[in-house]
Amino acid sequence: MDGHDFIARYAGIYEHSPWVAERVAEIASDIDDTSRLAVLMADCVDNADTEQQLALIRAHPDLAGKAQVAGELTEESSDEQASAGLDRCSKVEYERFQALNDAYKEKFGFPFVMAVRNSNRAEILEAFSARLKNDYDTEFETALAEIHTIARLRLEALRSG
Ligand code: GUN
Repeated sequence: MDGHDFIARYAGIYEHSPWVAERVAEIASDIDDTSRLAVLMADCVDNADTEQQLALIRAHPDLAGKAQVAGELTEESSDEQASAGLDRCSKVEYERFQALNDAYKEKFGFPFVMAVRNSNRAEILEAFSARLKNDYDTEFETALAEIHTIARLRLEALRSG
């Protein structure tokens, strides 16, 4: 695949962060194996500077947040949130998500990121409350680890068409 096609195909693997695909295209646009690509893209993020990592975390929308309600999510995020039932929250659940989203961003300065594809609303709310108790460094690392999981699932979804 040439560099342009590679970037076009993989730009959305990391949410609103095409720079990951652009950098990997420079060294490995011929690679097509899902696992190898996942590792190369994750390495690229892990080797980026802290400011860029923070920008990547901040590029994620809230879970069950206003962008979701307004239908303004990327296709990938919309699919992930819907697969976890986050598009079908009751009023009480929705208000719980807003309160947790706000408390989390107030404490850490970035949104709560969790690979939600294989979870349900109750599990996500439980993880949300638990992670709110962590310190900044733990959550920064956890957010990046979750983002790598999201990327891997997106690559696998691309592969299976
Ligand atoms: N987990 C999977 N997709 C997303 C997303 O778009 N935002 C957040 N916060 N978590 C996610």
